[in-house]
Amino acid sequence: LYLGEARGAYDAYVRRNLFARLRYAPGRDDPYPIYEQIRAGGTFYTTAMGNLATADHAACKEILRSRRWGVQPEGEDPPPEFDLSFLDRNPPDHTRLRRIAAPAFSPRRIAELRTGVEKTVERLLDDAERTEATTGRFDLVPTLAAPLPIAVICDLLGIPDADTATFSRYGAALGSALSGIRSLGHARAVMEADAAIERLFTDLFERRRREPADDLVSELVAAEDAEQVRPAEMVPLCSLLLVAGFETTVNLVGNAVNALLDHPEQWGALVDDPGLAGAAVQETLRWDGPVQRTTRVSFDDTEVGGTPVARGRWVNVLIGGADRDPAVFAHADRFDLTRTDGGDHLAFSSGIHHCVGRPLAELEATVAIRQLAERMPSLRRAGAVRRRNATVIRGPVALPVACR
Ligand code: HEM
Repeated sequence: LYLGEARGAYDAYVRRNLFARLRYAPGRDDPYPIYEQIRAGGTFYTTAMGNLATADHAACKEILRSRRWGVQPEGEDPPPEFDLSFLDRNPPDHTRLRRIAAPAFSPRRIAELRTGVEKTVERLLDDAERTEATTGRFDLVPTLAAPLPIAVICDLLGIPDADTATFSRYGAALGSALSGIRSLGHARAVMEADAAIERLFTDLFERRRREPADDLVSELVAAEDAEQVRPAEMVPLCSLLLVAGFETTVNLVGNAVNALLDHPEQWGALVDDPGLAGAAVQETLRWDGPVQRTTRVSFDDTEVGGTPVARGRWVNVLIGGADRDPAVFAHADRFDLTRTDGGDHLAFSSGIHHCVGRPLAELEATVAIRQLAERMPSLRRAGAVRRRNATVIRGPVALPVACR
């Protein structure tokens, strides 16, 4: 009896702390068993803070797509210190600002970038081969996964080559805030980066107002002049595009290579048919996506999957858990490039906030994975992977590999 009670108390303790365990190793390094336990407990799990969390695919999708939920309580503005433009806004501001940025990411405009992306990947892999020739290995993150999206988004925005290094330093610092502030020192670094980015963009706006170029910043300056964007909205809008461009695709490439190295038979299939690169990218998005969760708040008393939810409740939408839901994906924990049921993953979210950069992220990652398979068929690990210390954004910070 005593043992039974102890067991019951232990189970209750584990259950009470499930969500908190996502923040610490080993849950941070492998959150998937925790998502599974959260899902097994029903549609909603209540966190120690009294918020809700769900890893149920149907519930996540319904919340993301419903007009009864938003990214801020109805009528409230986001906290000004980390203003991430339309990502943090409900309609009508969301609709107006998204419409201004979206045309630059249309599939047609992104397809025009393909040749440039291919050339960038070629150049980065040339560098990687040179590094390996002298040191016997290279780190995939700083040689390929990180510089690729930085080069592409800086080019798209029209950031001059001379300023790319400064933008990327501050952009990375700003992006680190996406997973929350860890310490006072971290808060200070983020605020400094925020001020520096503001100065950099303000200078760039001035320059493009004088001499418009064929880039996104020039388009945004024109939208400001046409009074579609308020002056105070310009820097947050550009910062959002910069940070979203930096902090996500790097992890998609990193997670894809990491998964492929752990599944040599899948890597072999890709080497035999590099046309599978697109499938490898989609399966990585589902199986180990770079954005693990987002949040929404209910505008009214409502219900999700038959469970009532009161107005003003915050929900952690556990995208990474939803994408392992066995109700939607057969053998959901299996990484399999040939699966045919992976299309409904939520890695780019769903509904009005679904990722505006999706075509760009997919293009970059597919080109990178394809060229890796073509040029480096014997790619293998040359050291331990190190993961970033974060819960929202998931990916490696170090991925040592060799290919000879
Ligand atoms: C929104 C994921 C790459 C720009 C989102 C959201 C997700 C996401 C999950 C929605 C968050 C929510 O619903 O609360 C990803 C992933 C990427 C990626 C996994 C790469 C693998 C990019 C790129 C850009 C970009 C390259 C462009 C520079 C944006 C923007 C939003 C967004 C502007 C806000 C959309 C809105 O609120 O309407 N992304 N993203 N993303 N993403 Fe991405």
